[in-house]
Amino acid sequence: MLIAPSILAADFLHLEKDVETINRYADIIHLDIMDGTFVPNISFGFPVVEAVAKVARKPMDVHLMIVHPEKYVERFAKAGAALISFHYEAAQEESGAVLDLIHSCGCKAGIVINPDCPVEKIFPYLDKADYVLLMSVFAGFGGQKFIPETLDRIKAVRKELKRIGRPEVDIEVDGGVSPSNAGELAKAGVTLLVAGSAVFKAGNPAEVIDLMKNAK
Ligand code: DX5
Ligand code: ZN
Repeated sequence: MLIAPSILAADFLHLEKDVETINRYADIIHLDIMDGTFVPNISFGFPVVEAVAKVARKPMDVHLMIVHPEKYVERFAKAGAALISFHYEAAQEESGAVLDLIHSCGCKAGIVINPDCPVEKIFPYLDKADYVLLMSVFAGFGGQKFIPETLDRIKAVRKELKRIGRPEVDIEVDGGVSPSNAGELAKAGVTLLVAGSAVFKAGNPAEVIDLMKNAK
């Protein structure tokens, strides 16, 4: 299992310290970009991503919760993203073109859906995606409670990936993830876990990362 701590829950006054925790103990740095329109919250933008890039020794995974993701993909790639995901709800039938655009910028491409979007909506794009991000809370805020119905959605996407002969595609889950649900997420077919609060609000982030990494 790969672990991607979300810096949304980090200490922004001492961001370097929290990025260093990810460098040392985790696999991927998850960066949440919120525009106040696609989601009712605003997080951070290019200056923060560029600053993190200067000290990052793990790949940066940019999760775009914005309208018109196609307008900003190239700038996030230039800012240092290695993986970029966007919401199907924001791109709709342009999703294939956005995945192509992300690839043309040299990044791995992911497609994201909120808990109320039927998983079948993204099936037409699974041949192009390097990873699928299934939200296990509604995008927009850290610290929410994990929605258990996500487990069946993971299984459905995993099954479809097998059917089309693409078992290597990662399934990432984001929202309310902690050591207490990491095991069942692994069993359902998740390969990449995002966790914000569970890691950075913990007394010992390294231990929490380790517990999730080894959860079975
Ligand atoms: C929510 C974000 C998440 C968030 C997760 O919109 O996409 O990445 O930081 O936070 P926790 O782990 O606290 O639910
Ligand atoms: Zn996220």
